[in-house]
Amino acid sequence: MSTLRGTLQVPGDKSISHRALIFAALSRGESKIYGLSPAFDCISSADCLSQLGLEFEKRSAADNGKREAALIVRSPGLYSLKAPQTTLFTGNSGTSIRLIAGLVAGRNFQCSFDGDDSLRRRPMARVLNLLSQMGAEVRYLEAPNYPPFSLKGAKLEGKSFKLEQASAQVQTAVILAGLQADGITKVTLPKPARDHTARMFKYLGLKMLIQNDLELAVKRLEEPLAPFSLEIPADISSAAFFMVAAAILPGSEILLRKVSINPGRDLVLKVLLELGADIEVLKTAELCNEPVADILVKGGILSGKSIIDSERLASGIDEIPILALAAAAGHAELLVKDADELRVKESDRLSAIINNLLSAGAKITENENGFSVKGEGRLQGASKWLCYEDHRMAMTGLIANLCAKNTINVDNEACVAVSYPEFLQDLERLVKS
Ligand code: S3P
Repeated sequence: MSTLRGTLQVPGDKSISHRALIFAALSRGESKIYGLSPAFDCISSADCLSQLGLEFEKRSAADNGKREAALIVRSPGLYSLKAPQTTLFTGNSGTSIRLIAGLVAGRNFQCSFDGDDSLRRRPMARVLNLLSQMGAEVRYLEAPNYPPFSLKGAKLEGKSFKLEQASAQVQTAVILAGLQADGITKVTLPKPARDHTARMFKYLGLKMLIQNDLELAVKRLEEPLAPFSLEIPADISSAAFFMVAAAILPGSEILLRKVSINPGRDLVLKVLLELGADIEVLKTAELCNEPVADILVKGGILSGKSIIDSERLASGIDEIPILALAAAAGHAELLVKDADELRVKESDRLSAIINNLLSAGAKITENENGFSVKGEGRLQGASKWLCYEDHRMAMTGLIANLCAKNTINVDNEACVAVSYPEFLQDLERLVKS
């Protein structure tokens, strides 16, 4: 069986990268972002922002006189964004389409938005209904609730919303609109979620009127934000694939550097520990108001038990497929409940994980909006792994293949580029057979 050995710093966090680009749009002048994610999703955000008047320049570490390359972002400032000449095409990225809709909701122009086939199946009303209650004019161009749609910015009015989903994306989109609205805009989550937006506000010296685990409230941004310099930690959602691979392949030992351990994202660490993984969180620090850590993972056979319910789901929303594999590949048990949000991600991830693990020989049973997995030792494999064009399904399949008795054929490994273009190269570098 293969093992993983070595040290790796995975690319910059995708959620924080989108926010860094969008917050640069709020500022007037030249911001510098270090460690931006190379994910195709973040390129989608940058492409849309360049249509709104931002300019980007990559500076190498040498040009910078620093240890790291930087992206220089020049923005005319929130109040001088310009109308795009063509449709804002956000590819596969739910975060780009929802957050940028919030960014332009108070501008005095119209934008059309569209995405790829997967994004065209993802619900938008959860954001657009709120933006239209604040005053923006939304028109669905094909089917209600789904891209493509057009949004005409307007004079917005602050409102208070209680969200049905613990969605940081929806919360952030509305807060971005609230920065352009009269009065106060308040968004309350049903359960805590990732708080990168609130942390970035604080780091940039932007005022939040209310900020706690569930609520955020803002008022209009009167002056453009001052340009800033920001360094982005490594993405825990990308690191998760290596954590699981190392944890389930006996003899492995890897060190993952500078990983974001935002409390709204750290379920993968908690669940792996509950399943019995040998993981140590070493050397914690703060990077631009985000907690980071070096994480040491050693391989073994997992045999613990864990439950992911609606209280915990948001903090591991993108890691459920790889956690299901962690349980299935050893002798551990994992129960996932009330996870209907997984049906509206880049694919229906509940069906995708259940079908792929079943065909690889795992013991996994579907329940109403979740599943239970009971590991029965190494996966048989000799199966096909369908990615449904979903990057996280593809990376889960590639790790499944490493630990199975027989080959698992992943049908579309190229889609890993949506979040992690160099995933295969990094994996190959660490794999020792
Ligand atoms: C994200 C939030 C999550 C997550 C997505 C990125 C963000 O979505 O699944 O990959 O950057 O805010 P929801 O907040 O809608 O669950």
